[in-house]
Amino acid sequence: MTDNQLRLGVNIDHVATVRNARGGAYPDPVRAAKLAEDAGADGITAHLREDRRHITDSDIDALMEALSVPLNFEMAATVEMQKIALRHKPHAVCIVPEKREERTTEGGLEVAREENRLAHFIAPLRDAGCRVSIFIAADRKQIDAAHRIGAEVIELHTGAYCDYHAEGRFEDRDRELEALREMSAYAHSLGLEVHAGHGLTYDSVQPVAAFPEVRELNIGHFLIGEAIFRGLTPAVQEMRRLMDAARG
Ligand code: PXP
Repeated sequence: MTDNQLRLGVNIDHVATVRNARGGAYPDPVRAAKLAEDAGADGITAHLREDRRHITDSDIDALMEALSVPLNFEMAATVEMQKIALRHKPHAVCIVPEKREERTTEGGLEVAREENRLAHFIAPLRDAGCRVSIFIAADRKQIDAAHRIGAEVIELHTGAYCDYHAEGRFEDRDRELEALREMSAYAHSLGLEVHAGHGLTYDSVQPVAAFPEVRELNIGHFLIGEAIFRGLTPAVQEMRRLMDAARG
């Protein structure tokens, strides 16, 4: 992988959502992860939520066992999750805000407000060799705080940009995109590795993929939905193609 190449992390949470709709064993998120790997994913992302609404503890055990590419373990900053992460020591840990009643991760983490607690929270994860990533809005104050607490990576929340795009609110979308662009460059200038994700689709991925400072995109819900129509392998391959074209 060259310095300019953008990594694709495929989030397989919603394979587990479909499985859990009925209980039982299928569709199997580990099988989806292996297919995504073969189709060109550079990593797999899975979010173990406090309420285990999709990914379960045994999915994490199985992913750690089965994957050949790195696992990006998404979790809230709780003692329970920290223990699980320290037991598995995944390649990366992405700290996200979590509210029980939300449908998905709605906003970025408020790092600035909880700087002290988060600095202590991530230190053992870093000591265990995990790359710690903090999921935040494109906001200078949050980036500065993520830098101060010792995170190596930030992931910028692209949800608002994607929502505006889908709703046809193009002025708002372009303003969000500009904030993402500026804050990618700013975070990179501080020495942070920059990732981005949430809500990205074939339609919205390329402007973000074109930011030279962004090293990784994490994409899930759209790809799993698209897999219903064209299969997971072509769905991932098409995302990979669009990302590489935007980069080229
Ligand atoms: N990045 C983070 C930190 C997330 O929480 C999520 C959603 O779980 C994603 C990326 C992927 O978002 P989506 O499933 O909308 O592509």
